Amino acid sequence: MIKSSRGCCGEEELQQVKEAFEYGYFGLAYKTAELEDEIAGYVGTDRYVIATNTGTTALHLALDTIGIKDGDEVFMPSFTFIATAQAVVMCGGKPVFCEVDPVTFLMDVNDVRKRITDRTKAIIPVHYAGRPCDMDELLKIREETGIRIIEDAAHAFGSEYKGKKIGSFGDITCFSFDSIKVMTCGEGGAILTDDAAFDDLSRKKRLLGIDRKAMHVKDWKKRSWVYDVPTAGYRYHMSNINAAIGLAQIKKVDMFIRRRRELCHLYDEKLKGVNGIECMPEGYDSITPFMYVIRVKDGRRDQLKDYLMEHDIESGISYIPCHQFTLFRNNGDTYPVTDQIYREILCLPMHFELSDDDVVEVTDRIREFVNQ
Ligand SMILES: Cc1ncc(COP(=O)(O)O)c(C=O)c1O
Repeated sequence: MIKSSRGCCGEEELQQVKEAFEYGYFGLAYKTAELEDEIAGYVGTDRYVIATNTGTTALHLALDTIGIKDGDEVFMPSFTFIATAQAVVMCGGKPVFCEVDPVTFLMDVNDVRKRITDRTKAIIPVHYAGRPCDMDELLKIREETGIRIIEDAAHAFGSEYKGKKIGSFGDITCFSFDSIKVMTCGEGGAILTDDAAFDDLSRKKRLLGIDRKAMHVKDWKKRSWVYDVPTAGYRYHMSNINAAIGLAQIKKVDMFIRRRRELCHLYDEKLKGVNGIECMPEGYDSITPFMYVIRVKDGRRDQLKDYLMEHDIESGISYIPCHQFTLFRNNGDTYPVTDQIYREILCLPMHFELSDDDVVEVTDRIREFVNQ
């Protein structure tokens, strides 16, 4: 079976986890703080980094920290993973779905502008498949209206926008390091911001509202055991064990990204001119390609997916648009561009351990399918 995605860990991760086991305390500890520093270094920023136990909790923590509450509108593309919308629901907020660009599948900023009301409190652009949204335009909205921009950069760790890595500019950025992301912590996430007050409050909220100094120092004698609880909070910190995995992974992330770019170029080359198959625009060399997505024309997407599976090739459909789910279906708005994309997309196998031969096998099968 050629798997559509998979995490890739080895001896370095095992060694890091061994150290975490030997330390004997597995919760919020020194490796979490070390990983936060490494993330800032990798992104090339002196921003605050708050490591969380998932990308979903990073989003929820960010929204909660900026004060999203009952009835507040938070914008996002309908074309995203349900985690983006659920983070808003968890705050009691109202997800407002927007259309995406028909070519890049990224948030349509003109549609965003049309939907703004005085209840709109935040916008969550999603850097789909690692491609950055139009941050200049979104940050212009932030300047004009005060509406906060919280980037869902679950797919985009390492991607660049106008020469700078995602996470090094903008308002608040949330990453995911779940099991299949380009860099994994097993499970994990992180928030990046330059807002000191946000950093202070979100760190407390991350740990049940606890305000305790010297939490993650390695030397137990220096840990402080007295604390206050000034705010409501959650249990959202990244554990020392998950951070250990991340510390090994972050050293490999450039290698992972380089290989993914090569694979995208090979897919592009092999699928060029194949009838009824459209590839995404180029531009892989400045981004972290999280997925390789094609469009299958003439209503044949599901047939192609089945055909690939018959030949032991797994593929994916990311994503079912949020507005199509029972939870949101009654909102009444329509999203024709998103619906059309959803009918056509297919995510082909993409991970570090995919070989050139695997790509040739996948693309040969696709050609065979369209020619039959
Ligand atoms: C676009 C998007 N947002 C948020 C998340 C949530 O991240 P996590 O799985 O780490 O909770 C994901 C995860 O796949 C995602 O793809």
